[in-house]
Amino acid sequence: MKTVAFSPSPTKTQLEQEIDRLYQKFKSLNWTKEQCELIAPLTWKINRKKEELNAVILAHSYQMPQIIFGIADYVGDSYGLSRQAMDTQAETIVFCGVEFMAETAKILNPEKRVLIPSLEAGCSLAEGITPEDIRELREKYPNTPVACYVNTSAAVKAECDVCVTSANAVEIIKNWDSDRFIFVPDKHMMSNLGPLTGKEIVGWNAECIVHNQFTKEQVQQLRLDNEGIIILAHTECDPSVVLEADFVGSTGGMIKYVKSSHAEKFALITECGLAERLKVEISGKEIFGSCVLCPYMKKINLENTLQVLNSPQPEHEINVPPDIANRAKAALDKMFEMTTEGDK
Ligand code: 13P
Ligand code: SF4
Repeated sequence: MKTVAFSPSPTKTQLEQEIDRLYQKFKSLNWTKEQCELIAPLTWKINRKKEELNAVILAHSYQMPQIIFGIADYVGDSYGLSRQAMDTQAETIVFCGVEFMAETAKILNPEKRVLIPSLEAGCSLAEGITPEDIRELREKYPNTPVACYVNTSAAVKAECDVCVTSANAVEIIKNWDSDRFIFVPDKHMMSNLGPLTGKEIVGWNAECIVHNQFTKEQVQQLRLDNEGIIILAHTECDPSVVLEADFVGSTGGMIKYVKSSHAEKFALITECGLAERLKVEISGKEIFGSCVLCPYMKKINLENTLQVLNSPQPEHEINVPPDIANRAKAALDKMFEMTTEGDK
C-alpha cells in the first residue's frame, strides 16, 4: 500500500473551524457532527495542500458530498467542467471526476499538470467504442457528420467532426447543415436526439450502466405517489423514461431547472449524487433522488485525492499524445464555437 507523504496537521482551533464549516453544509444531509469530525482532518489538509501547490479541484456533480462541499473549487457538468479546465490559471488541475473528463482538461489546457486520484475512474460509455469503430461508421454512412459524446477517449474524439455534451448536443446537431448525423457511443442518447433535433440519428450501441437502470414504470409510480412532482431525466436514459419526464437534459440543465422553478417537489432521474448536491444547495424544496451510484465516479475519495496531491505517481498524471490531442482539440473547439448556452 502507498503511504501518504507528510502533511502538516491542523491546530485544535483550525480543526474546530473546519468541523463547523463542514457541519453547516452537511446537516441538510443528516450528517452528525461526529461524521464531520472524521473527515475534517482530511479536508483541511487537502485544502491547504491545494493552496501550497496552486492547484484547483474540479469535481463532477456525481462526486460524493465530502468532495463537492469539502474540497472542490468548482462543481459542474461535463460542459462546465471543460470550460473551467480551459480557463483556469492554476498550475495543477486535480480532477475529481472520470478519466475522459481529465483527458479533456489536458487537451484543452496542455500546459497544466492534470492529475486524477484513481486509475479506476473510467466510464462504460467511453469504454464502449474505439477509433476503428468510428472509421467503420464513416464508411457505412459516407458524407455524414460525426458527433461524439464527450464521454469518449481522446483517440475517439480525434476521429470525429465535433464533440458534444448533454448540455449542447441538441443545439449543435440542430444547427449543423445536415439532415443525418452519426452520434456515438450512447444508444439511448442517440434515440433521444432524433425527436429532440428532428434529424435522422444513427450511431452506436454503448450504454451508461447508471442511466440504463431506470424504467418508465419507476417514473410512472413516482408520479402516482407524489402529486405535483416535476420529473427531470438525463438524456442518457432510455427513451421510454424520457417520454415520461417533464424535462430532459444535462445535470447542469436539471440544476438550473430546479433552482428557477416555483414547484416544490422534484425527482431527478440520474445518478444519486446530483440529488445530494441539490439537497445541500436548495432549501424549501423536496428533492427525490435515485439510489443508483456510478461505481466509476465513486472511486474518487478524500484519501486518494490527498495522496495524489502529496505524492503524485506518474500514472496519475494525464498525458495525451500530441497528434491525438490536436485532432481531439479540433472537435472540442468546434463544440465551443457552436454552443451558446450551457453550464458556464
Ligand atoms: P453531464 O453532467 O454532463 O450531464 O453528464 C452526466 C454524466 O453521466 C457524466 O458522466
Ligand atoms: Fe459513465 Fe454513466 Fe458513470 Fe457518467 S454515470 S461516468 S456516463 S458510467
